[in-house]
Amino acid sequence: MLMEPGLRRNSVVIIDDDRNILELTSQILSRNGFQTYVADRAVEGIELISRHAPELVLLDYMMPEMDGLSALKKIKTRFPDSYVVMFTGRGSEEIAVELMQNGASEYILKPFNTRNLVERLENVLRIREIELHNRELQKQQEQLLSEIELWNLELQKRVREKTEALQNAQDEIVQSEKLAAMGYLSAGVAHEIRNPLNSISLYVQLMRQTTTDPEHLECHAKIMKEVDRIDTIIRKLLDASRRTRVISANVQINQVIDTVIEAFSPQIETRKIGVERQYQVISPITADSTELEQIFTNLFLNAIDAMNRGGILTIETYEKDGKVIVRVGDSGNGIAKDILPSIFEPFFSTKSRGTGMGLPVAQRIARMYEGNMEVELSSSEGTTFRLEFPVGR
Ligand SMILES: Nc1ncnc2c1ncn2[C@@H]1O[C@H](COP(=O)(O)OP(=O)(O)OP(=O)(O)O)[C@@H](O)[C@H]1O
Ligand SMILES: [Mg+2]
Repeated sequence: MLMEPGLRRNSVVIIDDDRNILELTSQILSRNGFQTYVADRAVEGIELISRHAPELVLLDYMMPEMDGLSALKKIKTRFPDSYVVMFTGRGSEEIAVELMQNGASEYILKPFNTRNLVERLENVLRIREIELHNRELQKQQEQLLSEIELWNLELQKRVREKTEALQNAQDEIVQSEKLAAMGYLSAGVAHEIRNPLNSISLYVQLMRQTTTDPEHLECHAKIMKEVDRIDTIIRKLLDASRRTRVISANVQINQVIDTVIEAFSPQIETRKIGVERQYQVISPITADSTELEQIFTNLFLNAIDAMNRGGILTIETYEKDGKVIVRVGDSGNGIAKDILPSIFEPFFSTKSRGTGMGLPVAQRIARMYEGNMEVELSSSEGTTFRLEFPVGR
């Protein structure tokens, strides 16, 4: 075989215990363009293969020390890219079949002639090239398939995330619509209630003038007290809907919390609730402090409700990654798992006299300041809410 200049010569390791055959084949193959390496024992031959990674191995079947079949198996497992052609004696076709089954690419019967030897080796070389090329293609195909698989997974993940985000956005729209309706309703309802309330008050005053019975008088006084209470609630509702916000860049959350705790001190005392404050020095935030007070008022109301037989209210504040964090914990009975997803829904309440507005209003305020509010943990030992507010907004 004539080689084009510059191309690497195909190399072949020849392993045969017969020195004459070794020399002869080496000469023939060198003349036909092969780079040859020779060994008269299998162990040496394998050493040569590992050193030169030849395209071909010519291996004698009949050898002392290691027989051809064992040597073939070894070579095929360690060097699958070196194709093995076996020398066998005439009349051993059965052996030849076994050799092919064990990975030999071709066999040549001894004695052989020059042309036959070279032609068969070149044939094996061609097949080898095609097979290696195929294997490479297959590898590329497998790689492509696994990349496609990865893209698919990534796409599925993105679709899932988008769907979830969309669902959340929709939920929020529903919630804020409910809240808006609530504000609108409460202003209207407040006006409507004022008139009948006024009538009740007038009638009671009339009744007071027509009796001297101390029992009746006491009842009238109680009714008037309740009427006053309703009037206060209505005034607050109306105030809230008319109120203009007063934003300050210097709201100290620790102070806001203290103010609210102070307002709750009568309930805290009668319920035998201990208050534990773990304040760190935190940056001021930009907000309307009355709105922030509203958040803590609603949280403390719930906490006190949850601890009707005493307990501990824990408030922790600190700053982390540009956010002020407030954790409000109680030692009440906790929130049942099945209602946990609903507690921020407007009008959701488990209390006979609850409006279910406490948490949604608090959460809405937190979000208005680009903050957040969520349940951090809740168990039979109590509940902890976690609030976040960005600093320096
Ligand atoms: N700290 C808490 N411990 C146990 N359950 C709580 C706690 N906070 C809230 N919940 C549960 O969440 C529900 C919703 O709370 P939310 O403050 O929104 O309304 P409410 O307290 O029921 O009514 P309102 O606040 O109008 O009086 C409550 O009814 C209660 O079941
Ligand atoms: Mg509440």
